[in-house]
Amino acid sequence: MLNYKIIDNFLNKEDFLKLTTLNLEKINKNEIKIYHNKVFKNKTTQLECLEVNLIKKLFDNYHEIGISILKELSPEKVNLWEYSEFHIIQTGADYKYPIHRDSPYKLLSGVIYLKPEHNKGTLLYEDKNGKNPKEIQWQENRGLFFSRSEENSYHSYEGDGKSTRLALVYNLMTTQLNEVCRIEEINYYKVKTREFISPFLHRFFKILL
Ligand SMILES: [Fe+2]
Repeated sequence: MLNYKIIDNFLNKEDFLKLTTLNLEKINKNEIKIYHNKVFKNKTTQLECLEVNLIKKLFDNYHEIGISILKELSPEKVNLWEYSEFHIIQTGADYKYPIHRDSPYKLLSGVIYLKPEHNKGTLLYEDKNGKNPKEIQWQENRGLFFSRSEENSYHSYEGDGKSTRLALVYNLMTTQLNEVCRIEEINYYKVKTREFISPFLHRFFKILL
């Protein structure tokens, strides 16, 4: 089973308030919308919905804790860190994101539940067919963190059928796929090919490898 960590009240009050009051477009029940925001080691940014000052503040406030969680869950990956993602994800009430394992470029995967007060958390499974689902219960400002592995990080999420689910996805990232594969003892060429084609399969055929 996946090794994970839950941290309640992850964000401080001010950051939580800012992230729960962003001006985002309304989505409909079957939609998902992901706003990508990145901050790199040299502090340059790529932003879709966060102000530059806000992402820098998030970086300053949470980078150390992110690294310390990664140290706990997957210490051999800590040195590979190159940039961080602070994505904002709106999941429509009826939208279901299928079971998947995260990309190997993610060293640490984190999600912080933002709003509303009640919704569905994250579902964790023992295998890709959804064996033994376990729900991490939704709670405002709860952070869930894990460090993916090839066979031990299957998960999914979905709306609760009632309201749009807003979450912050906070990931520690690398571009060094060869190093990740060496650490995980998996075949670099096989993984590289899969990671290259999987966005197309997902987009056009809704298939996740
Ligand atoms: Fe994921």
